[in-house]
Amino acid sequence: MRITRARAFGGRTRVPGDKSVSHRALIFGAISRGETRVSNLLGSADVLSTKDCLTRMGVEFAEDGSLIRVKGRGLRGLLAPSRELDCGNSGTTMRVMMGLLAGQDFDSRLIGDESLSRRPMKRAAEPLRRMGAEIELSGGDFAPVTIHGRSLRGIEHELKVASAQVKTALLMAGLYASGETRLRGAVGSRDHTERMLPYFGVKLAKSAEGITLSPGQELRATDVVVPGDPSSAAFWMAAACMVLGGSAQVEGISLNPTRTGFLQVLRRMGALVEEELTTAEPEPVGNVRVSAPAGLRGVEVVAEEVPSLIDEIPMLAVVASQAEGRTVVRGAEELRVKETDRIEAVAKNLRAMGVQLETFEDGYAIEGPQPLRGAKIETFLDHRIAMAFSIAGLVADGTTEIDSPGCVAISYPEFYPTLKALAR
Ligand code: S3P
Repeated sequence: MRITRARAFGGRTRVPGDKSVSHRALIFGAISRGETRVSNLLGSADVLSTKDCLTRMGVEFAEDGSLIRVKGRGLRGLLAPSRELDCGNSGTTMRVMMGLLAGQDFDSRLIGDESLSRRPMKRAAEPLRRMGAEIELSGGDFAPVTIHGRSLRGIEHELKVASAQVKTALLMAGLYASGETRLRGAVGSRDHTERMLPYFGVKLAKSAEGITLSPGQELRATDVVVPGDPSSAAFWMAAACMVLGGSAQVEGISLNPTRTGFLQVLRRMGALVEEELTTAEPEPVGNVRVSAPAGLRGVEVVAEEVPSLIDEIPMLAVVASQAEGRTVVRGAEELRVKETDRIEAVAKNLRAMGVQLETFEDGYAIEGPQPLRGAKIETFLDHRIAMAFSIAGLVADGTTEIDSPGCVAISYPEFYPTLKALAR
């Protein structure tokens, strides 16, 4: 894929369904009683991995126009898979499945691609083991993951990493445990699970201290409308701010406060960000218009806000290179264990484009503005690196070449056609 400088950028667009909400809608639907109808489900490779794992456990899906019907098997209705469950590139699939499978009355084995097989799984396995789970990890931390289904007990657990995947895995296991599951500590990650479970009839108590779930609750099927993915919209917002005279209006995206960190940071950088809320529950959803008529200035991003823009931090690095002054991101060490080491990938590719930056174990510092020059981009097969540097190409001199553009299908299959429609 070759990208050259855009003379203009703008327009109105919708983005595909939110990846996190899509995974959860399928999984919760699968263990519900009745039929869950999901609209605007993201049709990307990661979500397909979740759907395939569930299919192997006897869950049936029917496509009905733009709706997906999930035929729920009830809390205890999953069938033993006849072979291993392939989670592909998807960390959410693997970690949430670990929680779902730990308390079943059958054994299972989860595998993933090369990238996923290098990502840490102990963070989910360890607390699950405290609940009584029997989980074997390769090399003590990695996939393949072998799970021997056991009866579980609820625990009180202090989350050390602000990971929504781990939080969701523990809540899934909690549904199958005897006694309450209480999560404390770093519970401030994206909260789609806590928002959605009550719509499936599950009672859970949320407070400033944490989340408490009682076990044995049967889920009742419901309808889920998946909002547009704000992490996909972020690429268009970034382009709108960087291309001279650019603007973007993205409609129907999740405005869940645990996901809008990038919008807040763009605002602090001087962008004009207008939000119009159209739906409040279960997920706040609305339209967002972004432009940066007065240019952007550098900002500091601190650890507390990192979870609310974790997937947008690669894109932010490119934006920072075009802003006036210093941008510093700290407290983002989680980037090291995403689909690739995203701090390294960002640094390598920005440097290839002629940008000087400093990296830390937990972030980066970039003094802007610095001109970008077209370069060969190494995506490391990471969808968000491919998309962030495609957007960089719009404001670079010469041609930017993306080595494996196909990896955008992990979260945003329509990314390049949409880029062609918005950039001129
Ligand atoms: C996700 C949680 C985040 C995020 C990922 C999706 C989820 O990961 O980066 O893209 O759906 O729960 P962590 O839970 O590892 O922070």
